[in-house]
Amino acid sequence: MAINFEQVNFSYGQGKLAQPVLKDISASMPSGEITAIVGQTGSGKSTLVQHINGLLKPDSGRVVINDFVLTSQTKEKDLVKLRAQVGMVFQFPENQLFAETVLADVAYGPVNFGMGKEAAQAAAKKALQTVGIPEDIWDKSPFALSGGQMRRVAIAGVLATDPEIVVMDEPVAGLDPKGQADLLNLIENLKGQGKTIVLITHQMEQVAALADWVVVLHHGEVAAAENPLALFNRPLDWYQEVGIDLPRPAQFAEDLHQGGWPLGQRPLTVKALASQINQEVWGDE
Ligand SMILES: Nc1ncnc2c1ncn2[C@@H]1O[C@H](COP(=O)(O)OP(=O)(O)O)[C@@H](O)[C@H]1O
Ligand SMILES: [Mg+2]
Repeated sequence: MAINFEQVNFSYGQGKLAQPVLKDISASMPSGEITAIVGQTGSGKSTLVQHINGLLKPDSGRVVINDFVLTSQTKEKDLVKLRAQVGMVFQFPENQLFAETVLADVAYGPVNFGMGKEAAQAAAKKALQTVGIPEDIWDKSPFALSGGQMRRVAIAGVLATDPEIVVMDEPVAGLDPKGQADLLNLIENLKGQGKTIVLITHQMEQVAALADWVVVLHHGEVAAAENPLALFNRPLDWYQEVGIDLPRPAQFAEDLHQGGWPLGQRPLTVKALASQINQEVWGDE
């Protein structure tokens, strides 16, 4: 089971005004793993992930999400089955908080999915625990929280329906370093629970540290689909072309390499860089 895009084309607008945004996209996002979607602003990342819960449908080609097949012909009423499996965290999800209390806000999703009030509250409490929101603020207004907490409450609202696939569009954007670190931990925990994660991000350090698989979009096409180690060991001019950076440890290793240090492949993390320097430069065991 996984998510498979098969020759997907998509344009906004119709006829002469049609602007092709996804061009013959074929890519997989493996089950139970973290797939990062990267690429320049406007490359089609948000458009791509909105196909995973059927918010957008392909003009041609298909998207297979576990046992669900999404095509241009898929009926709105059939999307209910898909949406029960896919939780979508949009950019700045805290802008959609609305209820009087944190708990009521998070319970809204499960109620909407047809759960009774008590079951919905239990699901909401479990989701709040998962995202690390302490019990003493469950009865507070969501608007009284810090930015990082509001973000996590909004994410709890998506997790409360226990989706098997969680899609997040730039989930750490705008958070302070602590808020970012908490959220990255949460994403790893969700993977630990067996969920399939699709994550749009601009930060290559996150891709290097978290992702099992990476899909790079460039002008609406797949420029690469591979693991982070392969991705960050391409020829340097490739990154210029698609407009992404190397993660800092890889860039640092590259600079050392260009300065004449005998370093082999570019590492993904500071720890890997340190051990490479020990082994390859100093020859330590
Ligand atoms: N609702 C929309 N209507 C028309 N064009 C859109 C819409 N949303 C995005 N686009 C256009 O589609 C292209 C890809 O956008 P998007 O998927 O948001 O890219 P990314 O998330 O990589 O920044 C851009 O040229 C953008 O202007
Ligand atoms: Mg976007």
